[in-house]
Amino acid sequence: MKTVFFTGATGGLGELCVRTLSRRGWQVFAAGTNRGKLNELEQLPHVIPLHANVRDMDSLIAAKEKVLEYTDRLDAVVNFAGISVFSSLVEGEAIPLMEKLMDINVLGTARVNALMIDLIEKGHGRIINCSSTVGWSASQPFSGAYCASKRAIEAYSDSLRRELMFIGIPVIKIQPGAYQTELLSGVDDDYLKTLKGTTHYQTVLRRLKFVMDKVLGAAGDPQDLANIVVRALEDKRPRLKYRKGTGFLMWLMSALPDRLLDWGYRMVLKVPWGNSAT
Ligand SMILES: NC(=O)c1ccc[n+]([C@@H]2O[C@H](COP(=O)([O-])OP(=O)(O)OC[C@H]3O[C@@H](n4cnc5c(N)ncnc54)[C@H](OP(=O)(O)O)[C@@H]3O)[C@@H](O)[C@H]2O)c1
Repeated sequence: MKTVFFTGATGGLGELCVRTLSRRGWQVFAAGTNRGKLNELEQLPHVIPLHANVRDMDSLIAAKEKVLEYTDRLDAVVNFAGISVFSSLVEGEAIPLMEKLMDINVLGTARVNALMIDLIEKGHGRIINCSSTVGWSASQPFSGAYCASKRAIEAYSDSLRRELMFIGIPVIKIQPGAYQTELLSGVDDDYLKTLKGTTHYQTVLRRLKFVMDKVLGAAGDPQDLANIVVRALEDKRPRLKYRKGTGFLMWLMSALPDRLLDWGYRMVLKVPWGNSAT
């Protein structure tokens, strides 16, 4: 039976992946902190729920010890634990929020991979890291911490791949577009909080809401993404990256020169020149 250690297993995308993998006969070590969700996952065939916080090395070590009760090798590690936040980079709780986000999205992934590497090596396994469209496309205002974390995941994954290729371990990036999960539904609350607290961006934020609703309203079917993760896990010769769900607008933005894109933002948000943004 194929084995995978899966973080973010209790999330919208992760849970669907776990359910799909369980149906396909994988043994899934499903990690998360939400005990209710972990209990639900325990009902699935071949799923072993593990309470683990990716910010806390001790809890990851305890999770690894549990894995070792079942096996000393893994066919894969999948890093899906992640959070997002809509906030300014200079107002409100900017720095504590960014620290938390980097700790979960970037360092959490690095901790898991470093800890599990001996099991992956023994299993001739592979590593899958979750990036995002914003990991490779244009960075957005008011989601700077998230964009920076996913850019970091891209760079980290590329370096890791070029390091682990010498010991035969593939490193694969998943680059999802927008999918309706709690990660996206939290954006509305964050938006209102940011709007309430801002001294600089009242006008810009009010106008940005329309664009946000358009982009987030076009979210894809999460099962499509789960199917892509299964492919990344089961393809004999996996690709370096699997991209799914990127809308036309993000493709266009990635192709535009930065200054033109900045101008586009000004036009759309009707703040054409200067800083008359309040
Ligand atoms: N949804 C999208 O549109 C989208 C787009 C691009 C990329 N992604 C990426 O896809 C991944 C999954 O996102 P999702 O949409 O499924 O989000 P979600 O429903 O909010 O799930 C987030 C997952 O991360 C876990 N997590 C958060 N903090 C953690 C911590 N400190 N320790 C352990 N686990 C932690 C949560 O587990 P607990 O609740 O149990 O702690 C949950 O399983 C993320 O990396 C996200 O950046 C999502």
